[in-house]
Amino acid sequence: MDIRSFDSEYVEKNLDMPGCVELMEDTLLKLHRGGFEQYLRTGQPMPGGNIIAFMPAFCFDGYFGAKILSVFPKNSRDGFPSHQGQILIFDGEHGELKALVDATSVTKIRTGAVSGAASKYLARKDSKILALLGAGEQAESHLKAISGLFALDEVRVWNHNKSKAESFCGAHRAIAGGAVLKAADSAEEAVRGADIICTLTPSKEPVVKYEWIKPGAHINAVGACTKDARELDTETVRRARFFCDSVESVMAEAGDYVIPMNEGAFGKEHLVGTLGQLFAGEIEGRTSDEDITIFESLGLAAEDLAAAKYLMDK
Ligand SMILES: NC(=O)c1ccc[n+]([C@@H]2O[C@H](COP(=O)([O-])OP(=O)(O)OC[C@H]3O[C@@H](n4cnc5c(N)ncnc54)[C@H](O)[C@@H]3O)[C@@H](O)[C@H]2O)c1
Repeated sequence: MDIRSFDSEYVEKNLDMPGCVELMEDTLLKLHRGGFEQYLRTGQPMPGGNIIAFMPAFCFDGYFGAKILSVFPKNSRDGFPSHQGQILIFDGEHGELKALVDATSVTKIRTGAVSGAASKYLARKDSKILALLGAGEQAESHLKAISGLFALDEVRVWNHNKSKAESFCGAHRAIAGGAVLKAADSAEEAVRGADIICTLTPSKEPVVKYEWIKPGAHINAVGACTKDARELDTETVRRARFFCDSVESVMAEAGDYVIPMNEGAFGKEHLVGTLGQLFAGEIEGRTSDEDITIFESLGLAAEDLAAAKYLMDK
């Protein structure tokens, strides 16, 4: 059996951000139209607050597979990525394992790309100011994705440890597309007046408050991927048009939504729909320049598999 292996160097070189934004748009549309069977992931908590996750999906184009990865939220302190593992691709005819693709780099790039695609449809076209809350791997990929799609003037980076935000700004000027990068003193300072806000932290408590948000802003809420974690306060979610990658995942995994829902702030019907429905033109995105929109990103195996298959075919 010949199993091919694609390392992070290959992924970083061959999965360019503009191409990946398009690929994720196609993938979420295909998922919506029944091209994938997407199964709910298993995230098994382990000692130390870490997780081992199994994310499977089946594609009717003739392949299936899974991403298996560890999530170590405190890893950035020691210079390791928070998500590490492999994507396994099998052929759909005989179930043969065909390839292993580095999951650390795919996860980083595809997550920024999905938020890029969401922002393309939901953010105001004249968006000029980007706020990044968190200064890790996802901050880098969101900066790349969003600065490639909008003519940004300014990017504010907030991190709970300010020196990390400062070093992030120093290291990433080249990918900011000419925008000025600034380390913010507080999340409030970063968010006030921002047109696009990306929440990219493992925080369990809200890092964004409704009263800071400018009317018309778009939020990519990426960091909170479990039922007990949230980055947005109740009022932000209640007042916004709320979109997601998967409704099933939101109800099972999104503290941003289920914590306020379980407290009675709104019901299931508050969720407008998925990116797939939006890309298919079946639901309306923003209805006015004043709407606040949220894309809740949980991350799907279909996205990982599609990226891995693209790399394998390349
Ligand atoms: N939705 C998805 O598909 C998806 C994919 C990958 C990662 N994620 C999530 O996105 C978040 C960021 O991932 P990453 O790979 O950039 O991680 P990272 O560890 O590289 O960066 C996390 C950043 O948040 C900061 N931080 C740590 N604890 C914090 C806290 N309590 N409050 C505020 N900030 C804190 C860290 O200093 C760091 O700057 C994680 O929660 C991760 O699980 C989501």
